[in-house]
Amino acid sequence: MVLTKQSNFICDNISRNEEGELCLAGVALSSLAKKYGTPLYLYDEDRIREKIRAYKSAAAAAFGSRARILYASKAASFKRIYEIVREEGIGTDVVSIGEIYTAERAGLDLSLAYFHSNNKTDYDIEYAIERGVGYFVVDNAEELYAIDRIAREKGITQNILLRITPGIDPHTYAAIATGKVDSKFGSAIETGQADEMVERARSLKSLNLRGFHCHVGSQVFDSDVYMRTCKVMLTFVAHIYEKYGYLADELDLGGGIGVRYIASQPSPDIAGIIGEVGAYMKELAAELGITLPTVCFEPGRSIVADAGLTVYTVGTVKRITGYKTYVSVDGGMTDNPRFALYGSPYTFMPVAAPDMSDTVSCSVVGRCCESGDILGEDITLPNSIKRGDLLACLTTGAYHYSMSSNYNRIPKPPVVMLQGGRDYLVIKRETPEDIMRLEV
Ligand code: LLP
Repeated sequence: MVLTKQSNFICDNISRNEEGELCLAGVALSSLAKKYGTPLYLYDEDRIREKIRAYKSAAAAAFGSRARILYASKAASFKRIYEIVREEGIGTDVVSIGEIYTAERAGLDLSLAYFHSNNKTDYDIEYAIERGVGYFVVDNAEELYAIDRIAREKGITQNILLRITPGIDPHTYAAIATGKVDSKFGSAIETGQADEMVERARSLKSLNLRGFHCHVGSQVFDSDVYMRTCKVMLTFVAHIYEKYGYLADELDLGGGIGVRYIASQPSPDIAGIIGEVGAYMKELAAELGITLPTVCFEPGRSIVADAGLTVYTVGTVKRITGYKTYVSVDGGMTDNPRFALYGSPYTFMPVAAPDMSDTVSCSVVGRCCESGDILGEDITLPNSIKRGDLLACLTTGAYHYSMSSNYNRIPKPPVVMLQGGRDYLVIKRETPEDIMRLEV
């Protein structure tokens, strides 16, 4: 697979200044912690744009104008992100009325929105149709009939893609593998349900079947997974053409390209992977004797993950003689549930110049009343680590703010963007009053 060269830091927007202080996009984290408090989510705006442009130019090089990039906004969904997506001129993948509403408030053209989810309620469908969401990615037959019925009631014809389950195991951890046949998502090719869905979709008058979608998993490092997926999906397109005379206009390959959370992980080269996929798809389409459909990619994590990091303040440092050391921070599973859910590893770095001549291996833990509230195990920190020190957790731009919670009624941290050496607030720190806002 294609990988980029690795730098000393896991990501090249991280550095230390002359005083040895940790910086993101050239801005010292200590000054931001002082200004906004901790815990604090930070984003490097230029990095987000750079990643979107990398996808756009790679897709254009591989497929010309027959390609589309959709930001999978579940990775980080808030108004400013959708504004950036709008400014960069790509579409978006949305999965709920909350994401649709936020995208609309950011001025996003919803005709470029693709509405996912395995269980859209009638209310969701009505809401999305009323707002002019361009595409529904239809998961199952019940949903297909419901969208057709509601579209007819509203007097429109709704563009749809069918979500197909190609039966590919991306060898990623089980909880985020979605392309296998035994999955709550999509209709499987293997069982014949995918063919049935095509037949049904084509018979329904208020639906316009534009093509097919699949998403085989997330945090995928091996480009071979995409090659296998292309092969299954393009073969399916050719099979449907032969069986029903229907040639798909669009083929959406989903997202999933991995990111580097720790030094031992690779840093996938987006352009390289898309280039490989493009060359392979052209070859395959020619072999199968079909015109290549417009190809869509739906990256989430790989656009925002390494643009983000979280700054915490260390609280209690508990050294249990003969056992281990617990370093508690002022956040936890409420702002990062990913270690608790998936055991996902992270890189932690002291913000001040660290003295690594004497280190301690510790568990970094949060402040929730739950033993599983762990952010990292076997983390090497200076032995001098103490209450009041700032600690950064890197690569927290994806699935952190969007998966954060108010467990234990802990208010959510603010989100601050960095651009050209300047910082600006995009989401305020929650207050206890905010948490009670909806209570009557
Ligand atoms: N398209 C579809 C249909 C998806 O379900 C997903 C992610 C994506 C695109 C974007 O995948 P990405 O490029 O971000 O890998 N909460 C988990 C990740 C769940 C991914 C769900 N679907 C985590 O924190 O690792």
